[in-house]
Parts: sequence; C-alpha cells; structure tokens
Amino acid sequence: MAFSEKFLEELAERNEITDVVSQYVRLTKKTGANLFGLCPFHSEKTPSFSVSPDKQIYHCFGCGRGGGVIGFIMEIENLSFRDAVAFLAQRAGMPLPEEEKTEEASQRRRLLELNREAARFFHSRLMDPEEGAPARDYVARRGISGTMVRTFGLGYAPDSWTALADAMKGKGYSQRDLLEAGLMKQGRGGGGYDTFRNRLMFPVIDVRGSVIGFSGRILGDGEPKYLNSPETPVFSKSHNLFALNLAKKSKSGYIILTEGNIDVVSLHQAGFDSAVASLGTSLTPEQARLMARYTGEVVLCYDSDEAGRKAAQRGIGILEKLDLKVRVLQVPGAKDPDEFIRAKGADAFRNLLEGSQNQVEYRLRAVEEQTPPDTDEGRVDYLRSAAQLLASLPGTVEREVYARRVAERAGVSREAVLEEVDRLRRRKLSGARKREAREMARPAQTAQPSRREFRYENPRSARAEEGLIRLLYLDPGLARGKELPEPEQFSSPLLGRFYRELRQRAENGAPISMAVLAGRFTPEELGHLTSILDGTEDLSRGEQALSDYIGVIAAQSGEQEDLLQLAQRKRKNNRYGG
Ligand code: UTP
Ligand code: MN
Repeated sequence: MAFSEKFLEELAERNEITDVVSQYVRLTKKTGANLFGLCPFHSEKTPSFSVSPDKQIYHCFGCGRGGGVIGFIMEIENLSFRDAVAFLAQRAGMPLPEEEKTEEASQRRRLLELNREAARFFHSRLMDPEEGAPARDYVARRGISGTMVRTFGLGYAPDSWTALADAMKGKGYSQRDLLEAGLMKQGRGGGGYDTFRNRLMFPVIDVRGSVIGFSGRILGDGEPKYLNSPETPVFSKSHNLFALNLAKKSKSGYIILTEGNIDVVSLHQAGFDSAVASLGTSLTPEQARLMARYTGEVVLCYDSDEAGRKAAQRGIGILEKLDLKVRVLQVPGAKDPDEFIRAKGADAFRNLLEGSQNQVEYRLRAVEEQTPPDTDEGRVDYLRSAAQLLASLPGTVEREVYARRVAERAGVSREAVLEEVDRLRRRKLSGARKREAREMARPAQTAQPSRREFRYENPRSARAEEGLIRLLYLDPGLARGKELPEPEQFSSPLLGRFYRELRQRAENGAPISMAVLAGRFTPEELGHLTSILDGTEDLSRGEQALSDYIGVIAAQSGEQEDLLQLAQRKRKNNRYGG
C-alpha cells in the first residue's frame, strides 16, 4: 500500500461521510449528533446503522460493522482498499498521486493484459486444426457447441512445458510476470514451466470484462480434475464467480448458482443465460454480495449428492442475510444440472425451474428427512423442528400455508401446529425484548466486544484503554507533554495496536483519520474501533479523564507484573523448601 497519509486524509476530507453514505442509505432518524438508517450490510427493520458527522465514522449496532468512508466504500462496492481509494478519488475529482499510478497499479494492468493475451493464445490453440484436435474432441464429447466455445472464450493449453511461456515471452512479458500471474510455476533449477498443460481452459472474467484467471479441466479422467489459477494480485476465487460477466446481463430476473463450470456452459447453451458457478469454493459472503448487485433472487442448483445438499443449506443462510430471495432446485435422476439437461433437455429444466420449490419447502423437506414422522416419537421430533422453522418465518400467511403442510404430514390438526408456532414466537419476541432492554440499560463503554476474538482478559484495564483511545482520537492535543503508557502495557493486544497508531500521530501533531487506519486493520477490527469511538466522552473534563485512564492502565499492568513476580518468588521459595 503506497498512498501517502496526506493524500488519504485529503481524500477523506473531500468525501464527507454523510454525503457518501446517503447515496446508499436513507439517513433519517436523528439521535443526538448521529444520523441513523437501515444497515445496508445486514437485514433489519429498525435502523441501527449510525453515521457520525463529527467523527466521520459509521457504525452499525446490529452487525458491528464500522469504519471510515474508505471502509464503507470497500464494503458496499465490494472493492479492495486500492479500488475504494480510486473510487472516492474519482468521486471527488482528485487525481491519484502520480507515484501510485506507476508501481502497483501498472503491475496490475500488466497482469490483466498478460491474462488476456494468454486467453487469446489458449483459444487460438483450441482452434488450431492439428494441435487443438484432442481438446475439440473432448468439447464435442461434452456436447458443447461452437457458439459456447466463443461465448466463453474456451481454450486449450497445449501438452507442453513451455508453449505458453514461449509465446508470452515473444510478446515481451517476463518470467516474473508469468510467475506472478500464476501462469508459470518455478522449477527446481530456477527455471519455470507452464502451470496449465493439456487442459481445456475456461477464462475467468470479472464484471468489468477483465480476464483475471483461469480454470483448466483435464481432458477425460485424471487428477486433479480442475486446476485453478492461484490467488494473484488480480485474482481471488472467493471474490468472484465464473460467468458473472455474462449472467449480469441476463433479463431473467434471477441468477442460477451451480457448482461446476461445465454446468454453467451447459445451462447457457440451453438458454439459461444467468447461470454462474462459485469457482470450486463454497459460496462466500463476498460472492453473495456480488450477485446481490445484479439480482434480487438466486436459484441454488447444486449437485444432487450429500455435499451439494449441505452446500445449498449453507448457501441459503448466506444469501438470506443479504435479503436475496432464494430458491433451491434439485435435478431428479441426474448428478448435476449438466447431466440433467443432456438427458432430459432444456424444457425439462425449465419445468423444474418454474416449479422450483422455494427455500421453506426445501428446508421442511430436510427436517422431514432428518426426523421422519413415521412413529409417534418421530412425529413429536418432526413437529418440534418444523415449528421452529415456521416460527422463524416473518409472514403470517406464509406460516399458515406451511403449517397446513406440516400438519398433514404429521397427522395432527393445523391449529395444534399454529399454536406451537405462536408459543415459540412469543418466547422469541420476549427474549429479544429483554435483550434490547439490557442493551439500552448498559452504557456503551462497559460492553464487552460482541466478537469473541476481541474479548477482554482484563475488563477493568480495557475500559481505561478504550477511554484513552477515544480521547486521543477526539482530541489528540490533550496528549501533548503527557507521560503516556506504552502499547505493551495494554491488556488487550488489539486495543494496543489501535493505540500505537493513534499515539504516534498524536505525538507528531498529525490529525488522525479513519482513512489511514483502513489499510492497517480488518473491517471487523475497525468495527470494534468505531464501537469504542461511539462511546460518550466528556471532553470538558478531558484532562482529568486522561490522567484517570493512564493511572488505571499503569496500575493494572503494574499489578500484572507484581503478580508475576510474586508467583516467581513463590516458586523459588518452594524449590528451596520455603
Ligand atoms: P465437479 O467435479 O462437480 O465439476 O466440480 P463439473 O464442472 O461438474 O465437471 P465435470 O462435469 O465432471 O466436467 C465442481 C467444480 O469444483 C471445482 C471446479 O470449479 C468445478 O467446476 N473443482 C473440481 C476444482 O476446483 N478442482 C477439482 O479437482 C475438482
Ligand atoms: Mn459436477
């Protein structure tokens, strides 16, 4: 990361956070100095997403996300730190600093150009009458048409150790470029060899149309079946989807998510132009967010095995968090969508799609499989689990519709089912209300972090550490001429890291902005920091508070040392028979 702090601070100044956030979130309710709205990062009905114009931060009390304006853009636009900076620079009409343009950015551009050249090379090899013959035979055996070969830009990596490398070097690319793009691997003797050999090549193209990586399938049987580009400066499997570049243009109104590249090609060929695949990973939240940019509904169409069913269950959870409508489509009598279409045709698939069960039915079926209501005991278990599921449905009508189905299946009355569902809902509601009341009663400063990995070992000291951080952020001048504690004296390592950054700037008399921190901490960590900054601090008695906090931290860390020494002394005494 090479942006200067001066540049990042100016960037943050010229992108006022409420202005930026307002382009995505309707900020309405005004509470004190903060604006509130519905959180764009998790689904909610009452606003718990706050923006503080004074502190130039956002924080969601519901999901814990938070940060400055750059972090917000990273999250909501699904961009890297660098891209988010570029995005905001463009928004404010600021040129990116010249130095930045040269180093990393130009290397990225170079890798993308190299990938594009490689894709062209692979494609030309597939089309070559002689060299491409084995791969074209394979393509034909899989029933893939010439049109699809062109649409997807399919290619063939020749059966050679250096064919690609030689061709790319001829175009001026270095071995270093090829290694960095994951197209070559380092050999033992310092030389290198082509990563992809004798494989059918699927270029992975992002939504901007750049070739970011490849997926290569072996022709026929063998291991590994697929080989994917490694993670590179331009390629991350978990942040991309195969064929989203095509699917995002579909008019169908939904995206069909499959497991395999071949499934995708097959579906497009059959006219389902919104199919994508998750590049061999299980669906990630980033991939889900990416889809949410282009559609409101996802049809999960995974393989028919146990792994596929499990993956669908997991996928539902991830997609629903983003308020996406989810349907699950199983292909009966076939192992995957490709096999189904080849055996039964496009119309059969369309029938499935149109009648595809929504996720409630799918989950009810799963409950039924787990606890078959065939015995009295089974019926009780089935009803209990099914009622839990129904209780989680937001709509009354929906609950009644599915209650009828559950009742029929278990052989009880619908009223009995609904009564149980109501009981569960009342319990859940009162639980939520109690939790809410507890939260309200608790001052922000005394809350343990909600994330486990941030839990405090020494809450007393951590409270003071939080306070010190808050003061340094709000009024760095306070620290001038003060004897401040060392970060190592902090009981919480994370707070120590925040503090180290803040203290350094306070000492240099530099302003502290979230913009600078965005590149150094994870979004989760920044979320925790913003929850601390959101706490109230009476600046009129800042001096007093500062020395109180310093005192507590010193005492607590001293105590810790005393205890250690005491323990050591005890051990010694014991050893000498004390
Ligand atoms: P499948 O084995 O289901 O592949 O793996 P498929 O697309 O249906 O392939 P065919 O029909 O046998 O040709 C699903 C996806 O998992 C990833 C690939 O992205 C593949 O498309 N995968 C699979 C790998 O990354 N590596 C492997 O060795 C196998
Ligand atoms: Mn498959």
